[in-house]
Amino acid sequence: MKKVAVIGGGTMGNGITHVFAMNGIPVNLVEMSEELAEKALSTIEKNLDRMVKKEKIDATEKVETLESITTFTSVEDAVKDVDLVVEAVPENFELKKKVFSKVDEAAPERTILATNTSSISITKIAAATSRPEQFIGMHFFNPVPVMKLVEIVKGFETSEETYETIEETARLLDKTPIPVEDYPGFVSNRVLMPMINEAIYCVHEGVAEPEDVDSVMKLGMAHPMGPLRLADFIGLDVCLDIMNVLYEGFKDPKYRPCPLLVKMVDAGKLGDKTGEGFFEYD
Ligand code: 3HC
Repeated sequence: MKKVAVIGGGTMGNGITHVFAMNGIPVNLVEMSEELAEKALSTIEKNLDRMVKKEKIDATEKVETLESITTFTSVEDAVKDVDLVVEAVPENFELKKKVFSKVDEAAPERTILATNTSSISITKIAAATSRPEQFIGMHFFNPVPVMKLVEIVKGFETSEETYETIEETARLLDKTPIPVEDYPGFVSNRVLMPMINEAIYCVHEGVAEPEDVDSVMKLGMAHPMGPLRLADFIGLDVCLDIMNVLYEGFKDPKYRPCPLLVKMVDAGKLGDKTGEGFFEYD
């Protein structure tokens, strides 16, 4: 793995760029504008500063990490000499399909294509490219520089060689790869999201206040964040999208999104990113 391209510099994309670059793999980071690319770089710098302060890396490593990131606004230019492309654009199938059709045209034949999707079928996105055997899901967790897991999702046609290369790459990033099959929500979100949805039902039905629901799970189950704080951190829109994928994918009413979650998304209260969700943020 000599060079990678990461498409999208949002929360997940800048974290993915951070970990590749910090582990010595040059990254071409693609954003829609120079301003968004600058914003992604400044988030990465802030997170590297945090690591320098905690003495996880030194100042030289911070500089080397930043120097190995090159920003682009053209997908075609960014992917033409890379071994791996990791897509981290918003959870919209049509958008991902559009991005991958450009990537597929411009990337060398050897290049592996990976998506960081948290819910869309890998097989379905892969089918929109000419190389489904070289297509795979590489699902990272927020905050990417901290969380150890990468769920590796095999599509219907993903080859064993592609899987092994990506498994090895995840280890190179000091992550633990876990193989999963291409089912709605994979394992992580199939388990996590119904818990979050149930916590929202507790508020919806007046069982407890949001702070108290979270305290129960933090103090009783040693969760680092309560489920409602975590839902705000992930984004309530993302939580709703994933619940809908589970609901439609399994056709089981146990996955029905809580009406309060739907209402909050409709009201634009999406969590940290809009300054308000179950809690308020600066
Ligand atoms: N970059 C680099 N380091 C970071 C960071 C970032 N963005 N955010 C936090 N850190 C580091 C801190 O420097 C600190 O390091 P230390 O252990 O050496 O002191 C450590 O992480 C803990 O951070 P803090 O002390 O600031 O804060 P907390 O102790 O409250 O931990 C947390 C923050 C790591 C986010 C913790 O609350 C946690 O693990 N929360 C749960 C997160 C989680 O469940 N993520 C998965 C979400 S689901 C998902 O992403 C999938 C998607 O498909 C929906």
